[in-house]
Amino acid sequence: MAKKEKFTPKASIGQTANTSNLNMDRKGFIKWLSIGWLAFAAATGGFFTVMIRFLFPNVLFEPPQSFKIGFPEDFEIGKVDLRFKKEFNVWVVRNDEGMYALSTVCTHLGCTPNWLTTERKFKCPCHGSGFRISGMHFEGPAPRPLERYKIEMAGDGQVVVDKTKSFKFEKGEWDREESFLKV
Ligand code: FES
Repeated sequence: MAKKEKFTPKASIGQTANTSNLNMDRKGFIKWLSIGWLAFAAATGGFFTVMIRFLFPNVLFEPPQSFKIGFPEDFEIGKVDLRFKKEFNVWVVRNDEGMYALSTVCTHLGCTPNWLTTERKFKCPCHGSGFRISGMHFEGPAPRPLERYKIEMAGDGQVVVDKTKSFKFEKGEWDREESFLKV
């Protein structure tokens, strides 16, 4: 007796093609959805980056140009005070007659000289220019003395240095009252 074959339903060729198309459509949809999300995320990220840059702009915090340096008695006679060099680029000197503020910028090409206590001179490390304690140049290629800044007494008795106003020796400006504080 012939064995009966079990019937298993099989998809027709048309049905297989439809299922395949459906799968392709689903994959395509997911792919485009992913691309869409990525684009959205990138645009949102860019927007927030711009917003943060707007809220926190690149601001250079520079020290004030005019600042108090303390009372005259805080400065020793005959010494160069180095406390304001790093932050304000200024040396303060007190002598028997008063005080003056020197720029730390070498008048050759703008390097920063060092005060050599034993040799009692400012020496520029770049090309060897030397300046006396007064700021006067005496060796090396620097063509002129260091500049001085405006110095005055505030109402509370403290000394104020104002870097917005500088005085050049070669123009006779060291004779001006504001370039030297009598104390
Ligand atoms: S920059 Fe000071 S000697 Fe040249």
